[in-house]
Amino acid sequence: MSIIADDNDFIHPEKKGKNPVIKPESIEYDKNFENCIRPKNFDSYIGQSALKETLKISIAAAKKRELPLDHLLFYGPPGLGKTTLAGVIAEQMGVDIKITSAPALERPRDIIGILMSLKGGEILFIDEIHRLNKVAEEILYPAMEDFFLDMTTGKSQTVKTLRVPLPKFTLIGATTKAGELSGPLRDRFGIIHRLEFYTEDELAQVITRTAGILNIDITEEGAHAIAKRSRGTPRIANRLVKRVSDYALVKHDGKITEDVANKSLDILKIDNFGLDSTDRALLKLIIEKYDGGPVGIETIAAAIGEDVRTIEDVCEPYLLQAGLLQRTPRGRKVSPAAYRHLHYKNLPPEQQGLF
Ligand code: ADE
Repeated sequence: MSIIADDNDFIHPEKKGKNPVIKPESIEYDKNFENCIRPKNFDSYIGQSALKETLKISIAAAKKRELPLDHLLFYGPPGLGKTTLAGVIAEQMGVDIKITSAPALERPRDIIGILMSLKGGEILFIDEIHRLNKVAEEILYPAMEDFFLDMTTGKSQTVKTLRVPLPKFTLIGATTKAGELSGPLRDRFGIIHRLEFYTEDELAQVITRTAGILNIDITEEGAHAIAKRSRGTPRIANRLVKRVSDYALVKHDGKITEDVANKSLDILKIDNFGLDSTDRALLKLIIEKYDGGPVGIETIAAAIGEDVRTIEDVCEPYLLQAGLLQRTPRGRKVSPAAYRHLHYKNLPPEQQGLF
């Protein structure tokens, strides 16, 4: 199974040579959006240049040795291209990839089934690997280390352990929370890499590439205007291209210029830091109700009506990286930069000297 669609496959038949009208009935088209604009090789994969160089060497070495690649762990905030990169690696290795996620491997037979279905050299990609349960983890250890499964048959006194050999495979794990991975599991990955947020230039390139595939007319300034508000995240950039393209089509002539992009993003309430209304609600809550913090994550989640996991995995990584939020042992605190960004004049006393 290959997850990578050919770039050329993607232009919707009704859209070829026209403006990108995304019809409501084109559910398949919408659902496959992310898959179809995924780059399929290192040349079309923009950004993460240091990581790409290391991976190219590991792949070339594995090919020279005629062995599968070492098990790999990718970690970092969501939307930065962990699954995409796994697909690129499979393509470069010339092998198939099976994609699953830890919550789908609830029962022992789920993980056993998928391991036994692998063919030699194949890649198994497990997303959200920090959510793997203990039993599944114990099954994975000998599979990763020595390529066999320990199966037990019979009951109590007659119980027997059977060693079932597996073909040599590569496990690629992805997680937004490397710290939640158990030590023994983490130690079984030969290659561990963090994915970084993208720069504005890199995001503008991603946007221009996506617009090209979708046949959307965009200027360089238009691409940069979207890139600036995409929180360093290609998944967000690609979503915004579609939304801005809708606006350009309905309110203008379909072309995304800087002015069109800015107007459209203002309507979407995405500010010039890329923050949306949830991010702003979170910062405002800490400022207005808790004097800038510290305040516990559960309190924040209850007050703004979001779940803790969404705040931790989706909102916080960018707010931390942008220097708007700080994590302290006593809870979350906003920084002076957040006060400035949200136009608050009065800082809490302890922070007044920081301006
Ligand atoms: N779409 C999503 N991520 C991408 C990347 N890193 N390069 C090109 N297109 C992308």
